[in-house]
Parts: sequence; C-alpha cells; structure tokens
Amino acid sequence: MHTIIKIILATIMIVILFYGFLWILPSKEITYMPDDALRSYALSHGLAPVPTTYKKLLDIVDNPNNPLSPAKISLGKKLFFDPILSHNMSVSCFHCHLLNDGGDDNLPTAIGFGGRANPRHLNSPTVLNAALAKSQFWDGRAKDVEAQAAGPMQAPFEMNITPKEAENRVKKIATYVENFQRVFGKKNESVTFKNIQKAIGAYERTLLTRGAYDAFLEGKNSAMSDSAKRGLNLFIQKGCKGCHTGMSVGGQSLQHFPLRRVLSDVFENRPFPFENRGGFLGKDGKNVFRVPILRNITKTAPYFHNGMVTDLKEAIRIMSKYQVGDEFTPVQIHDMVAFFKTLEGELVSYDVNSSTDVDNSD
Ligand code: HEC
Ligand code: HEC
Repeated sequence: MHTIIKIILATIMIVILFYGFLWILPSKEITYMPDDALRSYALSHGLAPVPTTYKKLLDIVDNPNNPLSPAKISLGKKLFFDPILSHNMSVSCFHCHLLNDGGDDNLPTAIGFGGRANPRHLNSPTVLNAALAKSQFWDGRAKDVEAQAAGPMQAPFEMNITPKEAENRVKKIATYVENFQRVFGKKNESVTFKNIQKAIGAYERTLLTRGAYDAFLEGKNSAMSDSAKRGLNLFIQKGCKGCHTGMSVGGQSLQHFPLRRVLSDVFENRPFPFENRGGFLGKDGKNVFRVPILRNITKTAPYFHNGMVTDLKEAIRIMSKYQVGDEFTPVQIHDMVAFFKTLEGELVSYDVNSSTDVDNSD
C-alpha cells in the first residue's frame, strides 16, 4: 500500500517538474536573417516553391499507380464539378471545396447531402495543394488523393452514393463513357468506381497554387514585405516549420495537438484550448492530427479540425502557446499574418500537353 502511494506521489512530482521545466525554459532569441540568408535557410530546411512547368509538376506529383495525362486530368475536372456523383444530384466535390476561394467552404463544419452536417463537426480542409501531402484527412487515414476521393462520395452526410450507383450514373452519359475509354483503354469496363477516383485524383494533383512566397523563394526580395519576412523568420526559428513543412507548408506528418498542456486545461479535462465540439480526438482518439496545409490559410477560416476558431490571429496565438511553448506578442502575431498572406496564391495553369493518354495500370 505504502509503495503504491509513493509511486503515485513520485509520478505526480515528475509530471509537475516536467511541465514546470517546459514553461520555465527561456524563450529563444530571434536573430532576423537578411534576405539571402533567410531564403537559403528556408530552401535547405524543407520549404520549397511550387513549380511553374508541367514537366516539373510531374516530377513532384505524378503517381506511378495513376499516371497523369491531359485527358485524364480534364476528365477528373468534369467529375469534380459534377453533382451526378451524389445520390440526389445536388452535391459535387466543388460544393465543399471552392477552388476560387481557398479550396474549402468557409464554414465551421461541412454541410453535405440533404443539408446534413458532418457528424463529428469536422471542418473542410482545402483541396488546393492537398496532393502534396503525405496523407489525407484530419487523421491521415487515406494515403493519397485517389484513395481519399472514395470517402466523400459514399459518406451519407456528403454525397451519399454507392459505387454501383456512381458507375451507373456515369455510364448513362455517352461523352463520359467515351472519355473513360480514351483514358483507361479497356473498352467495356473503363467506367469503374476506382477509375472515377483515379480521374478525380489526377485532376487534384494539378491543383497547386503559387503566391508571393514562391517568388521570394525564387530570388525576388521585393515579393515579401519586411513584416512578412520577419514572420517567415519567426516561422522558421520558433519551430513552426518543424511541423508545417514541405512544399505545401504542412501535410507531411501526424502530430500531437496540443503538445504542451496548461494546468487549467488538465484540471478541467479539456482536450483542446477551444470548444471540443464534435468530440473528434484525431487518430486513435489520441489528440494526433495530420498537420494542416498552411498555403492559402488566410482564405480558409474558420480554423482547426472542428472549425471552432474564427480568427487567424487567435489560431496563431494558440499554436505559439501550445505547440512551441512561447506565446507570441501581438507584433509577432501581426508579422506571422503578413507572412501567411504571402502563402495566398493563384492556381497555376499548367501547360498540359505532352505525354500519352492511355493508362494501362490496373
Ligand atoms: C459535404 C462537404 C464535402 C464534400 C461534398 C466533399 N468534401 Fe472533401 N472534405 C470535407 C471534409 C469535412 C473533409 C475532412 C474530413 C475528415 O478528415 O474526416 C474533407 C477532406 C478532403 C480532402 C483531404 C484534404 C487534406 O488535406 O487532408 C480532400 C483531398 C478532399 N476532401 C477532396 C474531395 C473530393 C475529391 C470530393 C468529391 C469526390 C470531396 N472532397 C467532397 C468536406 C467535403
Ligand atoms: C508539433 C507540431 C506543430 C507545431 C510546432 C506547430 N503546429 Fe500548427 N498545427 C499543428 C496541428 C497538428 C494542427 C491541427 C490541430 C487541430 O486542428 O486540432 C495545427 C494547426 C495550425 C493552424 C490552423 C490550420 C487550419 O487549417 O485550421 C495554424 C494557423 C497553425 N497551425 C500555425 C502554426 C504556427 C504559426 C506555428 C508556430 C508558432 C505552428 N503552427 C506550430 C501542428 C503544429
């Protein structure tokens, strides 16, 4: 009995010491790097500009199990916008992923088929640059955009269609059948649910955006304001880029959130520093989430997996406090917003010309 009490007390002491130590650690001093040093630091630490040519795009996003071709991309584009892929022909992918407005729906939680809300109150992430991510969904449960596409079509609260129903719908439209045969070759069986996923995925692989940040990384110093450059300095030196990394500035790993707990949250048993609406706790219910993509973040409010934070400044404050343990000052938050503005971008219109049209992969 005594030993048990001792073990419990010792554990409590260790927890208090550990968290106490984290909070007492002095915050890191920032030395703002000049433009060239900032650029080469960013480029040598996993950040990269989005390519402008189709050839370079292929080097980065082409999928050996779903080779890109101009005809496949254009077929995928038609399907992405087509509500026939929902049971009552009212909801397309575009319904929740507005390509001209940040690639999401600007709602706290997604509203799909028949006005149904996402049962876990999940926020729609952007589809822009999603193909650059290493996994898809808030808990990373789909490995790529092709696999991902099967989810929303079948979800009763999104498009609510069965694979058979989707195939039959597409088969009724002669131009679709022609296009599927052109792209996937096999005469009779080219309209399959899997090929619908592949075509949509191929289109999504071309949905990359470029902004002022890309121009800066390519050498144009004037592309970013001094405030935005200070924001990028902070982003790198305070450790944000440790998680929000890669060409997409996110999407590369699954991470704990919140990483650091404050005692009041622990005592109140609150899993997040915002309302736990929907009750979703990430992968395996362990507060582990696929790190969101920050390109176009200024256009994808509200924030976090359940859309419970509407203000970008508040999202940044939460991240600085809970993920890097160094709560930003209002000036630092202002600079971070200025940096995030440079991640806003336009869809690159890739000159899709060369390459073969027939996909003979299975
Ligand atoms: C009703 C709104 C809605 C519709 C319709 C919809 N989505 Fe989504 N989309 C969401 C939500 C919500 C999530 C996050 C769900 C989750 O993580 O469980 C999501 C996630 C995604 C992701 C993952 C992005 C990332 O960074 O993880 C992609 C890609 C995507 N959707 C593409 C599509 C495609 C393609 C279609 C059409 C076949 C589609 N969506 C239809 C709401 C929608
Ligand atoms: C340890 C990994 C990690 C670090 C470090 C980190 N983040 Fe995050 N970030 C995440 C995760 C995971 C989420 C999603 C949490 C959720 O939705 O519940 C997130 C979400 C965000 C969001 C909201 C994104 C959206 O689409 O809703 C912003 C903005 C953001 N982070 C900015 C930052 C900034 C700025 C820093 C540095 C101060 C930072 N992050 C540091 C992992 C991290």
